[in-house]
Amino acid sequence: MGAKRRFKVWRGDETGGDLKDYEVEVNEGEVVLDVIHRLQATQTPDLACRWNCKAGKCGSCSMEINGTPRLGCMTRMSTFTEDETVTVTPLRTFPVIRDLVTDVSFNYEKARQTPAFAPPVGVPPGQYRMQQVDVERSQEFRKCIECFLCQNTCHVVRDHEENKRAFAGPRYFIRAAELDMHPLDAKEDRKEYAQASMGMGYCNITKCCTEVCPEHIKITDNAIIPMKERVVDRRYDPLVWLGRKIFRRDQLDGAGQAAGTPSLVGARTEGSEVEQHHGLNWHREIPPPQAAPVDETGRLPISEITADRAGGPSPFGDDQTFPLPPEGLNYAHPERD
Ligand code: SF4
Ligand code: SF4
Ligand code: FES
Repeated sequence: MGAKRRFKVWRGDETGGDLKDYEVEVNEGEVVLDVIHRLQATQTPDLACRWNCKAGKCGSCSMEINGTPRLGCMTRMSTFTEDETVTVTPLRTFPVIRDLVTDVSFNYEKARQTPAFAPPVGVPPGQYRMQQVDVERSQEFRKCIECFLCQNTCHVVRDHEENKRAFAGPRYFIRAAELDMHPLDAKEDRKEYAQASMGMGYCNITKCCTEVCPEHIKITDNAIIPMKERVVDRRYDPLVWLGRKIFRRDQLDGAGQAAGTPSLVGARTEGSEVEQHHGLNWHREIPPPQAAPVDETGRLPISEITADRAGGPSPFGDDQTFPLPPEGLNYAHPERD
């Protein structure tokens, strides 16, 4: 027989709700999801909670536990002191359906909007070839279990419903980075797309998403920052800009070869030796640097202003620190006041 422990669990639906108190038995080695299941079995059979694997692999049991976004099945009860009340609330960024179950369809919409992998033209399936080093580079991002804890944590959308339309979120930035690093992806504007259409400029690199990722994906360091750097390089590097103004493409090509260095531009043309040999577009076409987009008053949009300031202040002014303070442990419906 385990010891009785105190719990507060958010109960309610889209019309409202509040924290309810429970006392429930906890045994050695149990996780928070075990306790939720015991509550369902013994006290409140209508408590709604999403789960599937109980092994940290399906990403279903995301919830906020004592103010920190976590997987219920991976949060051991031994991490709390015996006299501590454990507060469990639904993911705050998404509208609640009932109790601990939220409507995460925002994420599926963003997934649908992200352009899919574009295999090289003319190479049949089974003939794709990649270097192991290229596989390893993006393998980290493929560990994502789509728990959406990073999406829930990101302050750009956490209390800003109005940003959801323009901001895809960290889970989809790693998807864009993964495809950008894929040697066989023939779509060449992943970075520009992330910046212009996925709202990457809203991210001010707070790394909160990285901190909550149960797969320990370095979302910010390995995906967002490299993508931002490349966008900034292309748009704002004065040497790149000057070089493009002074030299024609064929001159840049010839200069590289004369210096004994591989010709980047040449390697990216369709008739290059590499492509002829492999029949593949191994290298990406680099579009010419673009002028920064300004509105009719000559000002940069907010996404451009924040894009190249690593760790700068948030334009939304309210970065969250986790765990939330005790007075913040409740659920506020994102579509209600
Ligand atoms: S680094 Fe911060 S602002 Fe950027 S996506 Fe992650 S949580 Fe959001
Ligand atoms: S990146 Fe990490 S936190 Fe975000 S959805 Fe994937 S596994 Fe979850
Ligand atoms: S139940 Fe699958 S990750 Fe928790």
